Amino acid sequence: MTTTFDVNMLRADFPILDRKIGNAKKLIYLDSTATAQKPTAVIEAMNEFYRRSNANIHRGVHTLAEESTAMYEKAREQVASLINADSPREVIFTRNTTESINLVAYTWGRENMASGDVVILTEMEHHSNLVPWQMLAEELDLVLEFVPVTDDYLFDMKAYRKLLLLEPKLVAFTQMSNVLGTITPAKEIISLAHEAGALTLIDGAQSVPHLPVDVQDLDADFLVFSAHKMLGPSGIGALYGKMDLLNAMPPFLGGGDMIKTVHLRSFVPNQVPYKFEAGTPAIAEAVGFGAAAEYLQNIGMEAVEAHEHDIAEYALERLEEIPGITVFGPSAENKGGVASFVMDGLHPHDIAQILDGEGIAVRAGHHCAQPLHEVCGVKATTRASFYIYNTKEEVDALIEGIYKVKEIFG
Ligand code: ALA
Repeated sequence: MTTTFDVNMLRADFPILDRKIGNAKKLIYLDSTATAQKPTAVIEAMNEFYRRSNANIHRGVHTLAEESTAMYEKAREQVASLINADSPREVIFTRNTTESINLVAYTWGRENMASGDVVILTEMEHHSNLVPWQMLAEELDLVLEFVPVTDDYLFDMKAYRKLLLLEPKLVAFTQMSNVLGTITPAKEIISLAHEAGALTLIDGAQSVPHLPVDVQDLDADFLVFSAHKMLGPSGIGALYGKMDLLNAMPPFLGGGDMIKTVHLRSFVPNQVPYKFEAGTPAIAEAVGFGAAAEYLQNIGMEAVEAHEHDIAEYALERLEEIPGITVFGPSAENKGGVASFVMDGLHPHDIAQILDGEGIAVRAGHHCAQPLHEVCGVKATTRASFYIYNTKEEVDALIEGIYKVKEIFG
């Protein structure tokens, strides 16, 4: 695959990439899976909101209140458009992916599941798609089952088909692993789940920023993701849900804005999406989220995916040249822009620290996926992750940096 945008021109949109680190080294940012950098379009959209239009939303009739409400609702449209939701009202603003999953667990889950019901997850899940279900399983006496990772680090379709015979109520799965980079066959997973009578929740924290994700084509029931991993600000994320599901779900948090009427002993909930957005939301962050969605859509998600595939393929090739390195994850064709690795005799934190001395930002640890690291037989990995602004030259610098680590630690 080839890059279909000029990465050097695009880099000019990201002011942070001009930063020097430590000893006047140029920043090489390879930690976008933890959080992505922000283009000027996002930073300025938020600044402009505070400079010109700041007011609370859905509450006032004055000019600023009307402007800020319009900007907040435009952001919902921009995010809905990126994932091709049928209606912007199917997009609920939350704090992040984690809160979106908790919202589904504690509203849809509590209402629709009971003792003995089965939830299927995978061994690849981030803690945010494990712990809420573990908590709910304890409360409702649910049964959690896990689709294993195959020897070549893929979603085990054969095992999944077998687990579906248990007639699960829900299948909640990552569309792209934040450790292995594995892209799961979401459309097939969903269609098989529906045949088995289950609903589905896609953890799109890694997929929505990096791949074309079309909820109507996927027939997704729920999709969750965070703004900060897709060039937007932290503190805001989204839950997409099919309208009939959202309409039937009880509210999550109670308070202002999520109600139609309130009496001393009762309330009537507001309509979707406001029913799920209690209290003053992250308004400027929503504006930034919308700007990020539009920025990505202007590049084109196919081009984003193609660029990252190119970089990831090159990175895998180069990493595998290094003696004593083990890279976890499938071959490049099933993998997003993530390379998690261990090196014989070296601690991931030491590797990350030496690389930082070279201006290279990578993450070391379990990346909020301890069970997956257990499956891989390691406690921690060093992870380099790539996004639209990364180049092959930066991959070369990473490789040189790793040789330097080897030199230092003998
Ligand atoms: N979930 C984020 C990561 O993978 C924080 O690094």
